[in-house]
Amino acid sequence: MSDTDAVPFLLRGPGKPFPPPEYAQMRRRDGLARAVLPSGTPVWLVTRHEDVRAALTDPRISSDPTHDGFPRPAKTVGVPSAQEVPGWFVALDPPEHDRFRKALIPEFTVRRIRELRPAIQAIVDASVDAMLAKGNSADLVEDFALSVPSLVISMLLGVPAVDRDFFEAKTKVLVTISASDEERAKASEHLLRYVNRLIMLRTKRPGDDLLSRLIANGVLSVEELSGVAMLLLIAGHETTANNIALGAVTLLTNPEWIGDDRVVEELLRLHSVADIVALRVAVEDVEIGGQLIKAGEGIVPLVAAANHDENQFGCPAHFDPSRSARQHVAFGYGVHQCLGQNLVRVEMELAYKTLFARVPGLRLGVPVEELPFKYDGVLYGLHALPVRW
Ligand code: HEM
Repeated sequence: MSDTDAVPFLLRGPGKPFPPPEYAQMRRRDGLARAVLPSGTPVWLVTRHEDVRAALTDPRISSDPTHDGFPRPAKTVGVPSAQEVPGWFVALDPPEHDRFRKALIPEFTVRRIRELRPAIQAIVDASVDAMLAKGNSADLVEDFALSVPSLVISMLLGVPAVDRDFFEAKTKVLVTISASDEERAKASEHLLRYVNRLIMLRTKRPGDDLLSRLIANGVLSVEELSGVAMLLLIAGHETTANNIALGAVTLLTNPEWIGDDRVVEELLRLHSVADIVALRVAVEDVEIGGQLIKAGEGIVPLVAAANHDENQFGCPAHFDPSRSARQHVAFGYGVHQCLGQNLVRVEMELAYKTLFARVPGLRLGVPVEELPFKYDGVLYGLHALPVRW
């Protein structure tokens, strides 16, 4: 395949369904397709479910952006290296990656998250209270979908709720492709300075939170902890918010499924907001789906393409919570598979149960076609979601 066949890397666009229809053509044709980043650098897009899983588990394929050829949609977009930001472990390969993962796993087990359910429920209830206090209409993104994960991650890390606006604004810059490299670098610097202060505070006055426990067990340095805290703030916030908002639209347009516990997994598969999050580079020649990828070539395993692979999920565009969606790769796959997934599941479950029980007259404020979907972000989602009740 020659680079003259290459398609743009970001195939989303106004008026187009998501995932973009080109993904289905690529899956049918060769599975892997050549694309170009805005910088002009060619990359491989991986679209089939089995190939995405193969790419995400092959030790010859790296997550480390310091390797030549690592795909950067923009120079600094969401992928600093662990050299630039110590503790940014999503950008480390094993064995360096293992130390971080081991230190953090106890904080995100099913059991630990179950213990947090009452606190998460209280946050969801408070967010619904605040939304209802607005009268009979609101923006479900701003007033609910963003507020729940933002307050939850703040609680986990021990971030004072009053600082929420600050870190929300900074995260937004970091996940907007159209933001300039300068804007992004500045946002990242401010956020890092903020978490440094927070760590100093927790070192002096420990609380019952993740950061205080990590400081006490001493496995990670203060510098590394700052990167970890920043990664958690960014990773756990807009991702979940976009899922909650898109899922609310799907449930409002498929109300027969409201209240069914199986919706969460299917919504994660269907919306696959982190489509272009798992960026990789081959560090040796490797064959994926019958295609030779040469050392130094960038790879983008598209999780939305994999989650809509008709060989894995029949009628993939159809919302069907009764199907078995468990094999989806919305959280990635392999050693970097999302650390926060147990938390996300509980947040989504409680968010929908509470929202639809407490606001039974909830409906869309504008037709679905008029909703402002996000095409320019690293994550797919909604800029706003006008609702009434
Ligand atoms: C990794 C998706 C929410 C923390 C990932 C990856 C994906 C993902 C696709 C893999 C990245 C890669 O392979 O390079 C999502 C989605 C979410 C979500 C769709 C919401 C619906 C969260 C939350 C947290 C979190 C709530 C934390 C509280 C992380 C971390 C990693 C990660 C720390 C890196 C793990 C590692 O490198 O070992 N996530 N995520 N995520 N996620 Fe999530």
